[in-house]
Amino acid sequence: MTVTVLFAAPPPRWDQYRAPLTEALAEAGVDARLVTEAPDPSAVDYMVFAPSGPVSDFTPFTRLKLVQNLWAGVETIVDNPTLTQPLARMVDDGLTEGMVEWVTGHVLRHHLGMDLHILNQDGVWRNDIVPPLARDRQVGILGLGALGTACARALAALNFRVTGWSRRPRDIPGIACRSGEDGLAEVLAASGILVLLLPLTPATENTLDARRLALLPGGAVIVNPGRGPLIDDEALLAALDTGAVGHATLDVFREEPLPPAHPFWAHPRVTVTPHIASETRPRSAARVVAENIRRGEAGAPFLHLVDRTLGY
Ligand SMILES: NC(=O)c1ccc[n+]([C@@H]2O[C@H](COP(=O)([O-])OP(=O)(O)OC[C@H]3O[C@@H](n4cnc5c(N)ncnc54)[C@H](OP(=O)(O)O)[C@@H]3O)[C@@H](O)[C@H]2O)c1
Repeated sequence: MTVTVLFAAPPPRWDQYRAPLTEALAEAGVDARLVTEAPDPSAVDYMVFAPSGPVSDFTPFTRLKLVQNLWAGVETIVDNPTLTQPLARMVDDGLTEGMVEWVTGHVLRHHLGMDLHILNQDGVWRNDIVPPLARDRQVGILGLGALGTACARALAALNFRVTGWSRRPRDIPGIACRSGEDGLAEVLAASGILVLLLPLTPATENTLDARRLALLPGGAVIVNPGRGPLIDDEALLAALDTGAVGHATLDVFREEPLPPAHPFWAHPRVTVTPHIASETRPRSAARVVAENIRRGEAGAPFLHLVDRTLGY
């Protein structure tokens, strides 16, 4: 039977996804009609969704078996009251690989103190500062999901001492895994460099507030490719002003694009990147979409389902 798949993402994405999705669905053996408009919503079987696209009311899609989000974060759709169908987030090898590269790059920048030389090409021969080896640097990762675990493993492979924190206890070889409030305090107290890869949910908002920022070692570096509201901005700015936090590399913000007048742009201890840490890659993501549709048609459980009560 032919299934109807609605691609409900902003139009420019269609140019990127049409060919990979068509190919992946064929490879998965799914007989699909891929459309960008649905004059009859009740005839749509699956939806590939991204925010700011054509769909915000899911009520008319009465036959829908799955909404497959194109992005890893689902905070803009998870509490949509019209969505009653299963929702899957994106777990894409390409997205994960990109995040590992971005996180590793920024952690190494701070670990090696690269700015000292990159920003000071002034004729002064500064050869007296030797960074410690990675084996002597503790990196904390908040969030040990698809992205956090991959980043933790990559950093551990470079010999960093990695501790991670998640909601449920985890067991990842080579990573000291912690959970719970005490576990968080332990991770923060140990982290010279702290990476945030939590999803944004009611439970994770302001994870780094003034009290928890104060648990970090003096001069610690924060790298946030997770979501802006994981951090209390005012508390972070206060900690940066005193040097209690040595630097923050921020990819995500409460308001995006980050307004030009926002103090983060001008702060000497902040690096702003414009939500580019990693992106879903059409070719590998299309295979994930196709596999989930294949599963739906075969009566197999969907992959990467979101727990609506937890929000991720
Ligand atoms: N900047 C970018 O370009 C970019 C790109 C992609 C994704 N992201 C962000 O990265 C986030 C993580 O993605 P992912 O695919 O790794 O998500 P994921 O697989 O769902 O993992 C989430 C992790 O966070 C933990 N967690 C959730 N709620 C928690 C809580 N209340 N307390 C402690 N730990 C909690 C989870 O714990 P359990 O293991 O116990 O479930 C899990 O380890 C996304 O939600 C998105 O916001 C950013």
